Amino acid sequence: MAKITYITHDGQEHVVEAEQGSTVMENAVRNAVPGIEAECGGACACATCHVYVDEAWYGKVGAPEPMEEDMLDFAYDVRPTSRLSCQIKVKADLDGLVVRVPERQA
Ligand code: FES
Repeated sequence: MAKITYITHDGQEHVVEAEQGSTVMENAVRNAVPGIEAECGGACACATCHVYVDEAWYGKVGAPEPMEEDMLDFAYDVRPTSRLSCQIKVKADLDGLVVRVPERQA
């Protein structure tokens, strides 16, 4: 298990225990974290699961693959640490991960 903290636009923290192999998006949806819509269900085809990875974690999470990068063009207010949360797999070394949910999705 890995602890993930989602900070929503209003500053509220939602802490969840995530199973390895699941995605950051799936854990947000399962735990009703507001602001993650995930319309395509994780197929990297909607950009409504956009999050900002905390800068301290971005190196561990890594940069998006080209397909995700193309999809991120459709996200709202993209920043240097933007990722689509359905493309981030939970693994042991992401225990403690912090992501922020944008003000709105695409
Ligand atoms: Fe659609 Fe992530 S859920 S791109």
